[in-house]
Amino acid sequence: MQITLESKPYAALETEALVTYVFEETDPVQGRISELDQTANGLLRSLAKSGELTGKTLEMTLIHAPAGLKAARLLLVGAGKREQFTSGTLRKLAGAALRYLKARSVKQLAFLVRENNANEESAQAIAEGVLTANFETDKYKTEKKNDKSIDTVLLTGYSDAERSAAEKGLTRGRIIAESQNFARDLINEPSNKLTPKILAEKAEAMAKQAGLAVEILDEKKITELKMGALLSVSQGGPEPPRVMVVTYTPPNPKPGAPVIGLIGKAVTFDTGGISIKPADGMEKMKYDMAGGATMLGVMRALAALKPNVKVICVVPSTENMPGGTAQKPGDIQTAMSGKTIEVLNTDAEGRLILADGLHYAKQLGATHLIDAATLTGAIVVALANVNVGVFGSDQPFTDKLLASSKAAGEKMWQMPIDDEYREFIKGTVADIQNIGSGKGGGAITGAMFIKEFAGDSPWIHLDIAGTAWNDDAKSWLAKGPTGVALRTLVHLVMSY
Ligand code: BES
Ligand code: ZN
Ligand code: ZN
Repeated sequence: MQITLESKPYAALETEALVTYVFEETDPVQGRISELDQTANGLLRSLAKSGELTGKTLEMTLIHAPAGLKAARLLLVGAGKREQFTSGTLRKLAGAALRYLKARSVKQLAFLVRENNANEESAQAIAEGVLTANFETDKYKTEKKNDKSIDTVLLTGYSDAERSAAEKGLTRGRIIAESQNFARDLINEPSNKLTPKILAEKAEAMAKQAGLAVEILDEKKITELKMGALLSVSQGGPEPPRVMVVTYTPPNPKPGAPVIGLIGKAVTFDTGGISIKPADGMEKMKYDMAGGATMLGVMRALAALKPNVKVICVVPSTENMPGGTAQKPGDIQTAMSGKTIEVLNTDAEGRLILADGLHYAKQLGATHLIDAATLTGAIVVALANVNVGVFGSDQPFTDKLLASSKAAGEKMWQMPIDDEYREFIKGTVADIQNIGSGKGGGAITGAMFIKEFAGDSPWIHLDIAGTAWNDDAKSWLAKGPTGVALRTLVHLVMSY
């Protein structure tokens, strides 16, 4: 999909649909909407009077052959209350407009930004909104039921003076959204089309194309490095594990500056292992690599955005299978760090592979660690599919992430990791155990386990089990993989 900045006056644009947005206020016909109303001989004001045009969030008012405009259609999208309007609202409504029009076989649209809103941030939000909204999960349909997709979006309403800011926002938005879609595409792949080996090949290809350093560790190297926790998960099936290491180094690295480590869980399929999962809904466990895919997407974006800080991405990847060689409940494993682990439940495998991932990232020089993982069903109980669960050992670092999540329009909520929870993972016969003993707090227990391997380094854990997959389509996003946390992490790294 093409997005281009258009400087022609919007009334003269020959477009299939001119899209703009309306605030929910006493008089929604103000500013540019009032201009449009005059052009259209008072039609908008009468729609507002009749209650058909209210500005309520994501309300769609479609007008065909609007008078005074060259556009074939005028679409007015509700933006909600003006005081609550953010770039997050704009991202969503631009996406919802695109999906609304594409369902009506429109191929091209022009998005008109409102007065006082023509800046870099809005251009970025609109680009992100339309590009993520245009993503569909129909790759494997031989007959694409609706060969519907938007080819071109014109971005309009920016003056000549605002043009360079708009270009900047547009470029940044495009990089971020395309990286988010890159991650979503990986997450959507079924496990027979995306094994750890294939994921590593794709990561390598992405890194080489983006100009990032990349190393793929195979089973031999993983064994040499004594990544016993990762190996214990992969021993249950025939697919060998992989660890992807992708590194971004800034042009002029400052000595003593922080080095950010991004570690993502990439279990290409989680059957649960010998502690096998119920059949109902198990197909969804192909998305158990969402954390890893998201971190790879972050790296793809950083390669183009060129932050001033070094970032090391480590993605341990394996299947979790219940074969004859699989680990069994009660088995004791030695992680790369030397810590011994009682594996009381083989389905708590994400924390095992992250244990070695975190340790390795530290060994490679990462000073600040962030992991993302579809780690627990318990986070879905706590926060549903609304907020990402955030666990952090260093409050200033965590606050920085939470601020980035606000700026990026991704909902995240901090969870506790008090020392009291450490008891939950104390081992009986080994140092630690991989599950608690039925005391509740399942998401926290998972976090406490991972924390053991972060040591003294500032560390953040993102549990994205509830938010990485949309069970139902939203008006601005298809059903399926969301790519959540990518925008937040890109924003965080760029803020250094
Ligand atoms: N991949 C799952 C977590 C998960 C569950 C993601 C539901 C998405 C939706 C993880 O490996 C897992 O199985 N966790 C267990 C941990 C338990 C055994 C302590 C869980 O949450 O049930
Ligand atoms: Zn599991
Ligand atoms: Zn899992």
